[in-house]
Amino acid sequence: MTDTNKKADVLLGMQWGDEGKGKIVDVLTPKYDIIARFQGGPNAGHTLEFDGKKIILHTIPSGIFHEKTVNLIGNGVVIDPVTFQAEIQSLDIDKQVLFENLLISNKSHLILPTHRLLDAVYEKIKGDKKIGSTLKGIGPTYTDKYARVGLRTGNIKSSNFNKKYKELKEFHLNQISNFGNLKDFKISEMSLEEYEEKWFNSIKMLSQMQLVDAEVFINLAIKKGLNVLAEGAQGSLLDIDFGSYPYVTSSNTIASGACTGLGFAPSKIGDVYGIFKAYCTRVGEGPFPTELFDDKGEKLKVEGNEFGSTTGRPRRCGWIDLPALKYATMINGVTKLIMTKVDVLNSFDEIKVCTKYKYKDETITDMPFDLGDKNLKPVYETVKGWQSSLDNIENFSDAPEELKNYVSFIEEYIQIPVKYISTGPDRKQLIIK
Ligand code: GDP
Ligand code: IMO
Ligand code: MG
Repeated sequence: MTDTNKKADVLLGMQWGDEGKGKIVDVLTPKYDIIARFQGGPNAGHTLEFDGKKIILHTIPSGIFHEKTVNLIGNGVVIDPVTFQAEIQSLDIDKQVLFENLLISNKSHLILPTHRLLDAVYEKIKGDKKIGSTLKGIGPTYTDKYARVGLRTGNIKSSNFNKKYKELKEFHLNQISNFGNLKDFKISEMSLEEYEEKWFNSIKMLSQMQLVDAEVFINLAIKKGLNVLAEGAQGSLLDIDFGSYPYVTSSNTIASGACTGLGFAPSKIGDVYGIFKAYCTRVGEGPFPTELFDDKGEKLKVEGNEFGSTTGRPRRCGWIDLPALKYATMINGVTKLIMTKVDVLNSFDEIKVCTKYKYKDETITDMPFDLGDKNLKPVYETVKGWQSSLDNIENFSDAPEELKNYVSFIEEYIQIPVKYISTGPDRKQLIIK
């Protein structure tokens, strides 16, 4: 029997990434048969913690530690074979099981060594207007995809793959020579030749993996009534169209990206989980109206251990921005909210919440066109902190009143219920509401 009403759920970051997507996907995986990444690439760093272990995933979906679940890398993802192989090797999972449970779309795009060089070159020439890219080659790879010159993972099986690689590499080297000397740019401290050697070795591994028509696989799975969760990377405020452009990533990080990045129809989207931190962080450059430069910001960074999972860079910290969160939930059609890192606020006596902005003499509650406009100032309301540990609280009814008030404040503003509250990095640290 097929179930024509079956739909795939989507889980997405509502801020500037690092909301705790990896942890929550890992927690939700037992409910799903398939976990699928649909965009981004090794710029993502999704952290999972269980049994005293901490794992950071970059390209592999966060359901990989559950043996019964298929993990799918969709056509919208960009793959660097070298970082992908390193990630596979680092995981404490039987490799046969891992290879059986991991499917890769033959239409995903390959990040070439020269894409990574181009990322570095473009950042350098931007000077103080640089994006703060993770330098994983994301922008140049998506540029080539849309310029229709990219290499797809499925190409590695064809006899003219090396020729195509050389042509694209030459094209890139030409571009690089316009801006400087190739020798001035390194890839993870390696020369182009060194990285290229590793890259071709990793291509060999990739060619032994399950490269599939992922869009056919996922549509069949939905039709059969299997449970699918699409795992977003980055966050809505980094979306190429709706984020704080140009300080964004190069893919659609929003719910509709799951359709184009996996190949299922918009009518097949079920629940959309919008995940957000109880405060706000951003890594890299770009506007951040509620950013704190004082001891409170420092405290958020220390208590939240706010250092990038991919680059190790310190994350900028600030208060929650509700107009931005509401905008993100609108763009994504969020049906359920998930609030994370609530424990980081445990020792704060007061928590500030941005509920609107002041723009010159105007008060606005919508997302402005330019979040970086110097005249834009956040307006805060203050809620009382709970000043107690949240350890061992599993039911929302046992939570401190001040936390309940903070959650209600957000729910009333956004008009969407909060379903889960994360109170620590471990799988087990979760309040179900
Ligand atoms: P992702 O990119 O959205 O998967 O998030 P990251 O893994 O980059 O960053 C989230 C960080 O916060 C990781 O170090 C997680 O282990 C950690 N984390 C996740 N949820 C919580 C939480 O509820 N409380 C605390 N204190 N840490 C959390
Ligand atoms: P996850 O999935 C946080 C940021 C970079 C930079 C901008 C563009 O872990 O939430 P890119 O390398 O994509 O060209 O960088 O986007 N960025 C992230 N910030 N979390 C991420 O992923 C990010 N991926 C990219 O810091 O500002
Ligand atoms: Mg991250």
